Amino acid sequence: MSAAQPLDALWMPFTANRDFKKKPRMIQSADGHHYVTNDGRRIYDFFSGLWTSGVGHCHPKIVEAVQRQVAELDYAITFQVGNNRSAELAARVIDIAPDGFTQCFFTNSGSESVDTALKIALGYHRARGEGHRTRLIGRERGYHGVNFGGMSVGGMVPNRKAFSANLIPGVDHLRTTIDLEHTAFSHGLPEWGAHLADDLERLCALHGAENIAAVIVEPVAGSAGVIPPPAGYLERLREICDRHGILLIFDEVITAFGRVGKAFAAQKFGVTPDIITTAKGLTNGVIPMGAVLVSGDVHTAFMQGPEAMIELFHGYTYSGHPVAAAAGVAAMEVYREEGIFEQADALAAPFAELLHAFDNHEKVIDVRNFGLMGAIELAPRPGAPGARGLELHKRAYWEEDLMIRNGMDTIAFSPFLNSDVADWERSFDKMRRLIDTID
Ligand SMILES: Cc1ncc(COP(=O)(O)O)c(C=O)c1O
Repeated sequence: MSAAQPLDALWMPFTANRDFKKKPRMIQSADGHHYVTNDGRRIYDFFSGLWTSGVGHCHPKIVEAVQRQVAELDYAITFQVGNNRSAELAARVIDIAPDGFTQCFFTNSGSESVDTALKIALGYHRARGEGHRTRLIGRERGYHGVNFGGMSVGGMVPNRKAFSANLIPGVDHLRTTIDLEHTAFSHGLPEWGAHLADDLERLCALHGAENIAAVIVEPVAGSAGVIPPPAGYLERLREICDRHGILLIFDEVITAFGRVGKAFAAQKFGVTPDIITTAKGLTNGVIPMGAVLVSGDVHTAFMQGPEAMIELFHGYTYSGHPVAAAAGVAAMEVYREEGIFEQADALAAPFAELLHAFDNHEKVIDVRNFGLMGAIELAPRPGAPGARGLELHKRAYWEEDLMIRNGMDTIAFSPFLNSDVADWERSFDKMRRLIDTID
């Protein structure tokens, strides 16, 4: 039997595998703001990893911290035993978290953070004698990862429909806040749409508010193509949750750690949820890791009963892995020492200006932005939705040495938090050439 070829053996995530393997786009290395491809080209990374690598690739401080840690403590059992790096990282994250957040529970990804958060929400109500609160509310077009809980509260149709008979029960959804008739080409937050938060009141009336455990939303939806919340929407959701004793979960897997110009989107919007999920920027993408942050109130509810009893029957072999945590601690240091969140905040205005230069392009039906998250939505090619977007991604890679991401016909941008504006200018010139010439 002949040895398997490496690429044949690989089943790639969220990828058109057969199409990809006809002409693979392979990355060999990276440094700073560029990838180097297998064929030796330097590609500007306009997606900073997969929303992950805000301070750039292979940041020396993070690389060094990982190298040091792996040689000192590669792994330590995580149940009933702790390690210094995970404790240090939890303290660092809580230091920059919104007021009232007191504990961090570590996971290995955004999907795990979401399922952990949903379980914490259910456990919280149960611990307080409100075990009837079991219903979970998500939102259409929300993305909360791919595990069963997150997929069920999520609202991206292709991710759900193949599994529709097996989604978890007791889930409902708010409507999406995007409606091009009212929101297209908004600069930052759309003025229209705060009233859509009142969907939660309708669901309370339908199911009985006393049966609803939690609502989960991305403060700015990312994977559905960058959907900023309407002005006042998050405030309204918070009010309704408070009125009915429902927990509010912000899924900040993308928005945490500077992406919208503060440590957390909760701080940018001045709206404080009860639970926050994170991953990606926690380690600058260097080692897989996620964290669920909880408010003191949520944590205290669990810390009852006999002290020798496990309070939450949940956790992962790698929850608080020392090498991942070392990457996280180094990332937190870089964020602080290099003023990364402040840099990101200051870059939001020039980014918005360059992005909205596409507002009047004949092939563009919407442009959306918030912080350092942006999207250009192209009109679909008649009869072939998604074809234009994928073709644009491929041409950007092969012809323009540019990494962008498409979700169907929406091109999304997740620039580095410490970007050089001149790189954006060059990259948007390339984007214009591509959009001008694409069928
Ligand atoms: C808001 C949100 N939640 C959850 C996830 C899932 O994270 P992961 O792919 O690390 O499981 C993502 C990934 O993009 C995300 O954007």
